[in-house]
Amino acid sequence: MNTKIIRMDNDNINSKVIAEAGNAIKSGGLVVFPTETVYGLGANACDGEAVKKIFLAKGRPQDNPLISHIADFESINEIALEVPEIARKLAERFWPGPMTLIMKKKPIISDITSAGLKSIGIRMPSNIIAREIIKASGVPIAAPSANISGRPSPTDIERCVEDLNGKVDYIIGGEQCTFGLESTVIDCTVSPICILRPGAITLEMIKEIDSNAYIDPAIMKKPESDFKPKAPGMKYKHYSPKADVKIIEGDLQKTIEKINEMVQNYIDDGKKVGVMATDETMNSYNNVKVISLGSRKDMYSIGKNLFETLRSFDDSNMDIILSESFAEKGFGVAIMNRLNKSAGFDIIKA
Ligand code: TXA
Ligand code: MG
Repeated sequence: MNTKIIRMDNDNINSKVIAEAGNAIKSGGLVVFPTETVYGLGANACDGEAVKKIFLAKGRPQDNPLISHIADFESINEIALEVPEIARKLAERFWPGPMTLIMKKKPIISDITSAGLKSIGIRMPSNIIAREIIKASGVPIAAPSANISGRPSPTDIERCVEDLNGKVDYIIGGEQCTFGLESTVIDCTVSPICILRPGAITLEMIKEIDSNAYIDPAIMKKPESDFKPKAPGMKYKHYSPKADVKIIEGDLQKTIEKINEMVQNYIDDGKKVGVMATDETMNSYNNVKVISLGSRKDMYSIGKNLFETLRSFDDSNMDIILSESFAEKGFGVAIMNRLNKSAGFDIIKA
């Protein structure tokens, strides 16, 4: 397939291209587009045959449901069977933005999109290109992250090209995604509401709407432990670069010492090793490639750069990536969730 790759910035949108992309979706095609979380791989959520192509292009397990993206509040009523009061409140507060709400679905959404479930995830993104493409298509757009299944999600158009060139009709975008981690997924079919996947809309923020909200305890645990996560997608190995990721956990000074010691051992074994550090610590490591995720004072910078940093270590063919860890509060919960999964929960005490 000949993929049209079109670069544009959020403040310089080519409306002819947007119209073409909308048409491609409407007529059963696949379009990669930017969102404020990660890049998405979209198809018409009402068209089962089109959605099947997403699973094929990504190599995604068929039992993992997709999120349907909408451009305005009214569209919820067209695809959700009922909209619980709490979902309406969350939507009013946090949409458009990095939050997905699980509700009962109407039959208009294909069963392929929901992977046979009676519920769907709905999200109204804030990214202007995403919204314009949804509007131009005139349909809800089913879109998982635009990566080959298992790899770190793409936050940059070049990573989408790397994974999906030749497999989709359009790849559109330009700017690095604002948040860099996928949306917070909240199950609104249960009471109290339950966070199935942590993201930039944090537990602390959600508790302002429902003080009983909680995070599915299974998601911070190893997949083979007794708990089974409620979101089908959270059980898979995910976000994995080719290199082996190991997380070093503990007091920061001890972490630095432990990482330096491990680096030396790996080098002695003839391994290529990299360190994922922060602005505050990056000068404390010796004889090793170090990439800073950002400042510990700004957790949003850490989240924004996490997936891209994992992928850039792969570009330099690392065998091992050693990462510092972060406090599990606020956006740190989402960061540690993705980091733990990318490391297959290989956590070493400093
Ligand atoms: O930020 C995002 O959400 C990005 C951008 C493109 O919008 N999309 C994304 O989609 O991350 P995906 O397919 O990679 O992740 C969807 C997650 C999976 O963990 C899936 O299992 C869960 O949402 N999910 C979707 N529908 C669900 C449902 N009906 N019940 C429970 N979990 C659901
Ligand atoms: Mg994904």
